[in-house]
Amino acid sequence: MTVFLTGGAGFIGSHTALVLLEAGHDVVVYDNLSNASRESLNRVEQLTGQRIEFIAGDIRDGQHLDRVFAERDIDAVVHFAGLKAVGESTEQPLAYYDNNVAGTLSLCNAMDRADIRTLVFSSSATVYAESREMPLSEQAPTGRPTNPYGSSKLMIEWLLADLQQADPRWSIALLRYFNPVGAHESGRIGEDPQGRPNNLLPFISQVAVGRLPELAVYGSDYPTRDGTGIRDYIHVMDLAAGHLAALKAIEGTNGLHTWNLGTGQGYSVLEMIQAFEQAADRDIAYRLVERRPGDVAECWADASRAARDLGWRAERGLEEIMRDAWRWQSQNPNGFRG
Ligand code: NAD
Ligand code: UFG
Repeated sequence: MTVFLTGGAGFIGSHTALVLLEAGHDVVVYDNLSNASRESLNRVEQLTGQRIEFIAGDIRDGQHLDRVFAERDIDAVVHFAGLKAVGESTEQPLAYYDNNVAGTLSLCNAMDRADIRTLVFSSSATVYAESREMPLSEQAPTGRPTNPYGSSKLMIEWLLADLQQADPRWSIALLRYFNPVGAHESGRIGEDPQGRPNNLLPFISQVAVGRLPELAVYGSDYPTRDGTGIRDYIHVMDLAAGHLAALKAIEGTNGLHTWNLGTGQGYSVLEMIQAFEQAADRDIAYRLVERRPGDVAECWADASRAARDLGWRAERGLEEIMRDAWRWQSQNPNGFRG
């Protein structure tokens, strides 16, 4: 199958490209490189010994997508492209609705014109309403997200559900990721945030290599086992394998499916720091500070639907996550810039 990856040069896209190539699929990456570097794909090509077709472009450019689709035989689209910084989205909501919502609309229109109707979408656990009941299954209510990034993900889910209902030829998977972390075991590809990282693990990694002085732990008075926030951290290679499984499951079928991609296990911020310290054999300087607005106390997945429907489950534990995150960061202290 030939799979078209929007945003395929980014963190999750590059790992998924690798997994798809290794499974024997052809991969076309379409990315405007607003938050990624071409180098990630060079490295995937080196690791797999296979070629990726790269096309520089923006999903909001429908005419370009028309030309690209007309010239190739695309079987399915995995749609990663979008902006994802929660804090930035509160300052620039229009940029988020434009890239994420209008971008998805433009992509779906172009797919429809080209008769391509198999789509896997990168959604997020952020769509769930705040809840005291864990784990979160796909039936848990969605909420009013606390930021425009989260709203854009929920709006896209609605848009895709309406589309599939109106035209049952569409086959759509909404994959709700929990917290993607880690890196390919080679240490050659990984997460390379531009500027100051927003997420916990890249922040810890950059403290470890001396790019940042210390980690601020946001909140130590949550009703959790040690007072810090609990999340479901999933190894990016497990997440990538989840895309392959979802593609296999929806190929040649019609319908809309929602699957949580998480491990079903939650870890606190302090547990994450400790596990990283063990893997890297060095101390991480940190300070307990106020809660970060918009954060929930805990969030972890009931991943049983994906296990049942896709035969997929996360296989890598915290030790592997930290070992691989550290290998990537220590071998590439400045990310893809060397
Ligand atoms: P990323 O920023 O590394 O990858 C996104 C890619 O999309 C980048 O390569 C960027 O250059 C590209 N892009 C952005 N806007 C584009 C546009 N208009 N046209 C073409 N390309 C565009 O992020 P990631 O962590 O790999 O996330 C991939 C997807 O998964 C995103 O949709 C994100 O919202 C979603 N997601 C991520 C997380 C997470 O914590 N990393 C959690 C849940 C969901
Ligand atoms: N945290 C810190 N210090 C930091 C960064 C994070 O203490 O510098 C804490 C947070 O308070 C939280 C945990 O570490 O308790 C994880 O925070 P992240 O920012 O890494 O991840 P979030 O759970 O807030 O959000 C992430 C993605 C969202 C996605 C969501 C899905 O950023 O895009 O997971 O659950 F929607």
